[in-house]
Amino acid sequence: MIRNINPSGTVSWHKLRNHFQEMEYVRMQDLFAEDSERASRFHVKWNELLFDYSKNKISEETLRLLVDLAEEVGLKKAISDMFEGVRINVTENRAVLHTALRDFSDKPIMVDSFDVKNEIVAARKQIKSFTEEFISGNYKTSNGQKFTDVINVGIGGSDLGPKMVVNALENYRNDIGVHYISNVDDDYLYATLDKLDPKTTLVLIVSKTFTTQETIENAKRIKGWLEVGLDGVGVDRHMVGVTASYEEAVKFGVSTDNVFPMWDYVGGRFSLWSAVGLSISLAVGYKNFEELLLGANELDEHFKNSSFEENIPVLMALLSIWYNNFYGYETEAVVPYSQLLERFPAHLQQMIMESNGKNKTRDGYPVNYQTGTLIWGEVGVSAQHAFFQLFHQGTKVIPIDFIGFVNPFIGRENSNHDILMSNFFGQSEALLNGKVGEGYSEDSNNENLSSFKEFYGNKPSNTLLIESLTPRSLGALIALYEHKTYVQGIIWNIFSFDQFGVEYGKFLAKNIQSEIKQGIINKHDSSTSFLLNYYLSEKNH
Ligand code: F6P
Repeated sequence: MIRNINPSGTVSWHKLRNHFQEMEYVRMQDLFAEDSERASRFHVKWNELLFDYSKNKISEETLRLLVDLAEEVGLKKAISDMFEGVRINVTENRAVLHTALRDFSDKPIMVDSFDVKNEIVAARKQIKSFTEEFISGNYKTSNGQKFTDVINVGIGGSDLGPKMVVNALENYRNDIGVHYISNVDDDYLYATLDKLDPKTTLVLIVSKTFTTQETIENAKRIKGWLEVGLDGVGVDRHMVGVTASYEEAVKFGVSTDNVFPMWDYVGGRFSLWSAVGLSISLAVGYKNFEELLLGANELDEHFKNSSFEENIPVLMALLSIWYNNFYGYETEAVVPYSQLLERFPAHLQQMIMESNGKNKTRDGYPVNYQTGTLIWGEVGVSAQHAFFQLFHQGTKVIPIDFIGFVNPFIGRENSNHDILMSNFFGQSEALLNGKVGEGYSEDSNNENLSSFKEFYGNKPSNTLLIESLTPRSLGALIALYEHKTYVQGIIWNIFSFDQFGVEYGKFLAKNIQSEIKQGIINKHDSSTSFLLNYYLSEKNH
């Protein structure tokens, strides 16, 4: 059973606090000047991924104490508990087994006395055969044509992960159009439907619970659109349900053959590896979907088996805790130097902030230290022309993960890739070293202006340099952040796998919706009442 240990009461936390006094004003530039081997000391090379964390405000001693902290809170046991199907999601009384979805070994994975592997393997087979039938055109529309488009209707984890992966694997795509509807926004819904032909469109209704209002209401509108477009004939051939609630999907009108399973041991934000990722498989083919899973599985093995000193997700988590809890840096940026990873920060936001946005310890008391970091980001180089100015010369320190690829997917003669990557390397170098003294432009002779052109550097960053963006490396990259998230939750002594806050928001929205429908606004705080009354009076004017 997962232990309840307040990290701030541990010996290593106490030592880290003292150590922080020594480190607080240490400049990374000096650490590099003192140690020409620093980069070779602070990096991990694993498979096709190089993780350089030398540009951080750490010494060997910092690392040792952070690793001690991980050991003192029982991280090793917490990792094996997760993989072994222990009910570590205590508040929902569930196991946490997204890792089992990408485990291709013969080893059973028991939750209590039930082997979940059988149902996982059966679902993978179902995804494979449906994908093959669909792409080949054997699975036909209600009037015998080949499907041209797929709409994935889902929200949160039933949307962000698959959408991010399908974008990222653009170079592996077939010619099937894949569209995502998540928001309850008529303007966007109908703008999307107007461009599609219901006669050749398949709709995936993806909802673990099959009760999420946004998804179900959108699905109803889309089902209506199908009914009109198909003259009510064979509508069920055009619908697939992915859910843990088989009965609800069938009640909705999905044919029993077209329901794909989900299970309570897979959280929404960790579910793209299951049939929730069906849109990925349809867009890039089952083989590439499996490659994605295999990449994640390789990272799982690395996470499970490496010592903490060589363990990339553990190191990333520890560095983040060092900044969040000792330096007081509240946010972290993730900047992938690949346009195709445009949706990656959004996926991480749900994964990390929904998981670790918690303020109670595992025994239900308020935490007396900071937990979940704020995650944000955008792709480079574009981000440099948007918010990097604040990184360089602002008053806040924001640790950054730079993610880049050694080789582009398509090697061309006049490639821009070196330009992209020169920016990638140049930015972390500038953030480390800054620029004081001699100016960097012709205006530097003007003493009045030169101080504005100084920047002091000492801004921390991690660099993840990956061979190339493939389904396998993408799978590993996503899994890396999943495990970083888990490690942080363990150290912060919080439960990372529930989301009661979001659920309460859903509940309030439902009540307000019925007030709007009845035109009677109940008692709220004065601001909410004022806004609701204004909305009602202006509506349809
Ligand atoms: O946002 C809250 C949440 O419960 C997420 O955790 C989940 O991914 C999303 O809603 C969608 O839930 P469902 O798949 O059940 O429709």
